[in-house]
Amino acid sequence: MKTVLYMAIAANGAVANHQGGTPWGKASWQNYIRATNAAGNLIMGRTTYDVMERNGEFDPFDPKVKLFVVSSHPAPPKAIAEFVATPAEAIKRLSDFEIIMVAGGPILATSMLKANQLNEIHLDIEPIILGGGVPLIPNQLERHLTLLDIIRYDGGITLKYAVEKAS
Ligand SMILES: NC(=O)c1ccc[n+]([C@@H]2O[C@H](COP(=O)([O-])OP(=O)(O)OC[C@H]3O[C@@H](n4cnc5c(N)ncnc54)[C@H](OP(=O)(O)O)[C@@H]3O)[C@@H](O)[C@H]2O)c1
Repeated sequence: MKTVLYMAIAANGAVANHQGGTPWGKASWQNYIRATNAAGNLIMGRTTYDVMERNGEFDPFDPKVKLFVVSSHPAPPKAIAEFVATPAEAIKRLSDFEIIMVAGGPILATSMLKANQLNEIHLDIEPIILGGGVPLIPNQLERHLTLLDIIRYDGGITLKYAVEKAS
């Protein structure tokens, strides 16, 4: 079992524009949907869930994909995901899967990086600059990465890194 943070980022490192929007190309969305459907699961922060739910962005996912939301609040009525209080709980519940997908956003990603809960980071580098946008890691944090792979797709590249554990 390994945990993989999979995010699309602009060429300047932003994961969303200043309004929280994610104007990624079709190919990047397809990469993300394909990877999530293949993994069979997805963990996300509460804000990301709200945005994706509101925009109908779960529609292309295989209905069998297990969706987990990390939140200190209970699930709203009609939630299409299970709500858990910590990333550790979601990881435990998904421990039978070979790959556990983590969608972000930055608050969840940062907390999991700090807690050594991410094994790999996969980034689709999109051909766009989102000045003043939302940074991938909003807090001061340093982690060494090992480059595992570079994959070219229509309009961008996916960089795959292993995350070195903090001592
Ligand atoms: N580019 C991409 O691939 C990508 C991917 C995902 C998201 N995004 C963008 O990122 C933005 C949202 O990111 P964000 O960083 O603001 O929010 P987020 O990480 O999606 O969600 C943050 C919320 O999740 C809960 N949470 C996160 N970590 C937790 C932890 N360790 N323990 C308990 N609760 C935790 C808290 O909610 P409660 O207050 O409910 O406790 C927290 O306020 C959106 O604009 C979205 O579009 C981009």
